[in-house]
Amino acid sequence: MTTNTTESTTGEPTKICCLGAGYVGGPTMAMIAHQCPDIDVHVVDLNPERIAAWNSEELPVYEPGLYDIVKQARGRNLRFTTDVPAAIREANMCFISVNTPTKTFGIGAGRAANLEFVEKCARTIAENSDTDKVVVEKSTLPVRTAESVKRILSSASSTVKFDVLSNPEFLAEGTAIDDLLKPDRILIGGDSSAAIEKLADVYKHWVPDEKIIRTNLWSSELSKLTANAFLAQRVSSINAISALCEATGADVDEVAAAIGTDSRIGPKFLKASVGFGGSCFQKDILNLVYLCEHFGLPEVAQYWEQVVKMNDYQKYRFTTRIVKKMFNTVSSKKIAIWGFAFKKDTNDTRESAAIYVCRDLLEERAKLTIFDPQVSLEQIRKDLEYLIAGPNGELTDAERHLLNDNVTVAKSAEEAAYGAHAIALMTEWDEFKDCDFQSIYKSMMKPAFVFDGRNLLDNQMLADIGFDIESIGKP
Ligand code: NAD
Ligand code: UGA
Repeated sequence: MTTNTTESTTGEPTKICCLGAGYVGGPTMAMIAHQCPDIDVHVVDLNPERIAAWNSEELPVYEPGLYDIVKQARGRNLRFTTDVPAAIREANMCFISVNTPTKTFGIGAGRAANLEFVEKCARTIAENSDTDKVVVEKSTLPVRTAESVKRILSSASSTVKFDVLSNPEFLAEGTAIDDLLKPDRILIGGDSSAAIEKLADVYKHWVPDEKIIRTNLWSSELSKLTANAFLAQRVSSINAISALCEATGADVDEVAAAIGTDSRIGPKFLKASVGFGGSCFQKDILNLVYLCEHFGLPEVAQYWEQVVKMNDYQKYRFTTRIVKKMFNTVSSKKIAIWGFAFKKDTNDTRESAAIYVCRDLLEERAKLTIFDPQVSLEQIRKDLEYLIAGPNGELTDAERHLLNDNVTVAKSAEEAAYGAHAIALMTEWDEFKDCDFQSIYKSMMKPAFVFDGRNLLDNQMLADIGFDIESIGKP
């Protein structure tokens, strides 16, 4: 690919500032800096601990291959800093890559995206700009957000020109480096073809031009929400079928393989599970639902909302199955929770199905011993406290006791399973497949149950050892 110096519309070399050093801002900018040694990339965040971690040996984001890329570019053309105004002033291209969580208050609470962080970024960029800039929406945003961003930017100064682009990110956690290195497509929406090409030139350092899609702003913004809605819909669809498989004796993995050979359906994203998690699927679908309602399309809103409802049902169904199989009571029984991240190869726990299953098992008074190879004890406690405390954020004394008495965090899968009545596998970490199940079986209470929420383990091998194994969508 070309490695020519990328120039701004004013003939200046491109200098990037990215606001938000999270799961997207950090890896995305590290990849740009890695592939474009001629471009200075400053990643800024208001959170000093996050920035300190990006500057250390222990990055705040666990992602295979990320550290190598950061190490090669950091100190060369990649900098992480909390000095937001200075980084903006030096840049001629600003990415907004901040969080856009579901609103928890006011109009649209529980559905609409909370855009306060994006708006703050637009205001900070406006306040600190005395030269023209391309402003890139990297965060996932409701369609027509660019309109507000443009208004905020243009009302700050009549002399500085801002071009706003939408450039959503499609990376998935756990495979972010590969996704960034070999993206299916790069999507750029905008009004100004000069600005679009300036951004396209950055990606053209390593992405073939035919993979760069140019659209209008609104198509780009809406495509991101739509892509996530379609992906989540596939998971909910196969999970819905998994319930029917359990009732009828069909095997969901066989059904998925059979339908996946149809080239119109395709084999990917058909893995039945305990339910999808992650920071985006639910948030983005709820946002889509809110937009449909806002634009007077209640039937369309209800159609998409069903994807989230099916996911909630799948998580709840898993806990119910555990309780039923364990003779209708798990009270005081030790259950090993294997995995807490929302998928393998990430330390991210946002909206992880494990949190919901743990909460429901705790309500049944089970004793949980949790192990995840990448999630810290502090994070596990924080997530459970947050969910159990409910909307006011305060734990009652009873809830605090419940957590203190009934939750421990183990250092290995084997330790978690020691003396347990059951293992509930929540995240498909590869290392779980390689455990010594013979000795785990010996160390457990009998009957020893395994509830495989990811259809990861070899059922026949476990059954031969003596386990009572229950999988998703299997007879
Ligand atoms: P994140 O919470 O990990 O990171 C966001 C960061 O922005 C935080 O570190 C926060 O401190 C910082 N921030 C907030 N306000 C700021 C401000 N005014 N100035 C500077 N920094 C500020 O979020 P994320 O997972 O990286 O997601 C960011 C966006 O990308 C979201 O819109 C999300 O939907 C989208 N997205 C996420 C993924 C993913 O895999 N996580 C993938 C594609 C798109
Ligand atoms: C998802 C999309 O795949 C990305 O394209 C998008 O950029 C990102 O959301 C985002 O906007 O945040 P991510 O959530 O990181 O990426 O991970 P996925 O691989 O999509 O998995 C999401 C959830 O669905 C996980 O809990 C996963 O275990 C579950 N899943 C996925 C299944 O249960 N079955 C499947 O077949 C696939």
